[in-house]
Amino acid sequence: MLLILVLPAYLANASPVILGGGAPVDLGRKLGDGRRIFGDGKTWRGLVGGIAAGTLTGIILAYLVPGTSYTIYPSAGAYVEAGFLASCGALFGDLAGSFIKRRSGMKPGRPYLLLDQLPFIIFALLFLAAFGLLPALSLFDWAVILAATLVLHSATNWMAHRLGWKKVPW
Ligand code: CTP
Ligand code: MG
Repeated sequence: MLLILVLPAYLANASPVILGGGAPVDLGRKLGDGRRIFGDGKTWRGLVGGIAAGTLTGIILAYLVPGTSYTIYPSAGAYVEAGFLASCGALFGDLAGSFIKRRSGMKPGRPYLLLDQLPFIIFALLFLAAFGLLPALSLFDWAVILAATLVLHSATNWMAHRLGWKKVPW
């Protein structure tokens, strides 16, 4: 089931909003263009916390999923491994998105349609694929995942903003 496949990446992407803060990943450094590498919106605490949250999701799935009709992998350990890999991919994709935003001169928190919502899930799935943990997906599956991610990302970010966790609603 697609939701089980993407759940660790979703949690890894969302949790830095709460867990993040402190030293930025780029430690304040700038590139030759005079702009920050990633900016203050990407912190070490967010990075490590996000990977931990996504891996924990994988551990929970390892307890719940095997033996049910939602089974994706042959062993419980594979869900943990997949949770970790998908989380690393999600945080990597998120950093890559911010890298591109900074290169195009956008301040952290400025909205950038698609680049804010999609790199994390695409890289999460690519990381899974790189380690042979991505099940065969049809074109329709990909379309469902990308569309659902766009909608969910927008809805959850708007909610996080309403709850006062996030400065901007995207
Ligand atoms: N966050 C973090 N560490 C990360 C990712 C996110 O601490 N690796 C936290 C930051 O507090 C950030 C918030 O989560 O402000 C929301 O993340 P996001 O929308 O991805 O970052 P932005 O601040 O919008 O920055 P950017 O323009 O670079 O996307
Ligand atoms: Mg943002």
